[in-house]
Amino acid sequence: MKKVVVTSLAVLLTTLSHAQGKDAEALVAGKQKADMTYLQLMEIMGEASSMMHKGVLRQNKQMVKEGADIILTHPAPNHKPWTIMAEEDQAGFKKSLLAYDQLLDTKAGKVVEDADQGAWTKASNSLNDLNATCLSCHAMWQEKVKR
Ligand code: HEC
Repeated sequence: MKKVVVTSLAVLLTTLSHAQGKDAEALVAGKQKADMTYLQLMEIMGEASSMMHKGVLRQNKQMVKEGADIILTHPAPNHKPWTIMAEEDQAGFKKSLLAYDQLLDTKAGKVVEDADQGAWTKASNSLNDLNATCLSCHAMWQEKVKR
């Protein structure tokens, strides 16, 4: 049963990424480039999340929106992001980059939507959901970065 679920999830993910007609190479190639490393991009992501957090606490819609925009429109680093992983981990990390790019956009968008309606408790819950998404990728990958 578990195997069936895992298999159909894999099929679904493959179908989704095919439906989008995109892979991680195309995703990264489609973004503007900035002169920063992947780690520096992550530091900016941290600032974006923190700005959204402050915006929710202060009930400042524009602050929430500007933080979310950083996540929604972030440029690509000056190197292929998967090169921070060992060769054998790169294919897996590419899949995560692709899946999480979409997830972060959807979840950041939800926080903006809630804030826009002045639904601050909802916005706070949606922000927790966004942060949990960041953390799940970290749990999978942060320790695998080659040093
Ligand atoms: C695709 C996986 C992935 C996603 C999604 C992701 N991160 Fe990261 N993050 C990483 C990896 C890998 C590192 C470690 C990078 C390194 O050490 O070179 C990291 C590191 C960080 C760091 C530490 C930077 C430092 O100075 O040590 C922060 C802060 C951070 N991420 C914030 C975020 C936030 C906020 C989000 C969500 C909005 C997010 N990340 C989403 C993979 C991800």
